[in-house]
Amino acid sequence: MASSVLRALMLAFALSLCIFFAECSTGDLIIEHSQSVDGGLCRNLIGPCGYTCLEHTAQTKDGFLLGLQRVSSGILNLGVQTAPPVLLLHGLFMGGDAWFMDSPNQSLGFILADHGFDVWVGNVRGTKWSHGHESLSDGDKEFWDWSWEEMALYDLEAMLSYINSKTSSKVFIVGHSQGTIMSLAAFTQPDIVNMVEAAALLSPISYLDHITSKLVLNLVHMYLDEALGLLGLHQLNLKSDILTNMIDSACDGHLDCSDLLASITGVNCCFNSSRVDVYLEYEPHPSSVKNLKHLFQMIRKGTFARYDYGTLKNLVQYGQLKPPAFDLSKIPKSLPMWMAHGGNDALGDVIDVQHTLKELKSKPNVLFLEDYGHIDFLLSTRAYEDLYDNMIEFFRSCGTSTSS
Ligand SMILES: *[C@@H]1O[C@H](CO)[C@@H](O)[C@H](O)[C@H]1NC(C)=O
Ligand SMILES: *[C@@H]1O[C@H](CO)[C@@H](O)[C@H](O)[C@H]1NC(C)=O
Repeated sequence: MASSVLRALMLAFALSLCIFFAECSTGDLIIEHSQSVDGGLCRNLIGPCGYTCLEHTAQTKDGFLLGLQRVSSGILNLGVQTAPPVLLLHGLFMGGDAWFMDSPNQSLGFILADHGFDVWVGNVRGTKWSHGHESLSDGDKEFWDWSWEEMALYDLEAMLSYINSKTSSKVFIVGHSQGTIMSLAAFTQPDIVNMVEAAALLSPISYLDHITSKLVLNLVHMYLDEALGLLGLHQLNLKSDILTNMIDSACDGHLDCSDLLASITGVNCCFNSSRVDVYLEYEPHPSSVKNLKHLFQMIRKGTFARYDYGTLKNLVQYGQLKPPAFDLSKIPKSLPMWMAHGGNDALGDVIDVQHTLKELKSKPNVLFLEDYGHIDFLLSTRAYEDLYDNMIEFFRSCGTSTSS
């Protein structure tokens, strides 16, 4: 049971990978520098498909060294003269590889490059294609002392500043899932949102209190997050025996976990199950136990706020008893936003998306796909027709401005 649970868990959360595109011939591959494991994402996945790919590193204010890959098309150019930068922000337990997992005409990273965009691939702290920390090692507990809050306030800030300095342009953002949580939190901060031209959010999440994912709700109710903390764990590694056993007990007796992918993400209409083994050859990317705690706090309390340390420590940390909320109404009305959400998404529930929309001052373009589950927004075999075409049209309608 444990191994089948792990298998499905990894499938659901962590469709990450390295090389499997044997059909992609090596093209104009240029590698400037790369400190990543196995030579980096450019060399492993993007370059072999014929795309120009350069490895970059952005350093956060708290010392993390984030991998950024800059991708442009070596094959096609279906579009515009100018090449506005687009930053891609992956979801939980994923890395920048998430945008390149299927064939070049199905994967958003390749599609945007083919349409003439200057594609920048984000990799948050702790993931495989990032480069660690200037002084901490991943064996230190301080290395894992963060949640999506730091990804929003430090990682996204560092990525945008870096791209901004290289291109002298404001940046388009595309986020999926956790990538939308960090975006929406960061857009409430004037110094960060000023670097953004427009944003496209796939399965947008700020509130999480209506999730219907049975397995996730079981893990919340059995306090998996607290249990991991009590066990002294700081890194969240889906491959660990402890986590596998805990997921296992959430399934046994309580829940029919025969279709785990659906019990976590909702039913995905257009997921290609014959690619599963290919995805599963590769390990999931790590995250932190504190990040899981923060996400579970959102589910339990229905808030979109900073990390809750408990009354006493909140007072020290924030000068108030409760953690300050991220106020969505502070996102400038002038920021163009596009959102796509699904009727079968068990993590990005329709009620929670409505809640987010209600608090925004602006009226984003919203695309609702009745039959889409959480993973479809990334891996649907129909994603280009259903989603990406529309997203590209939205970006084109926004134009670009140069920032000083
Ligand atoms: C996508 O590319 C593959 C080859 O890589 C090709 O066989 C297929 O027809 C293409 N599909 C579309 C919709 O263009
Ligand atoms: C599904 O994946 C298989 C195996 O990679 C591939 O041959 C097939 O073309 C894919 N189907 C679609 C609709 O993309």
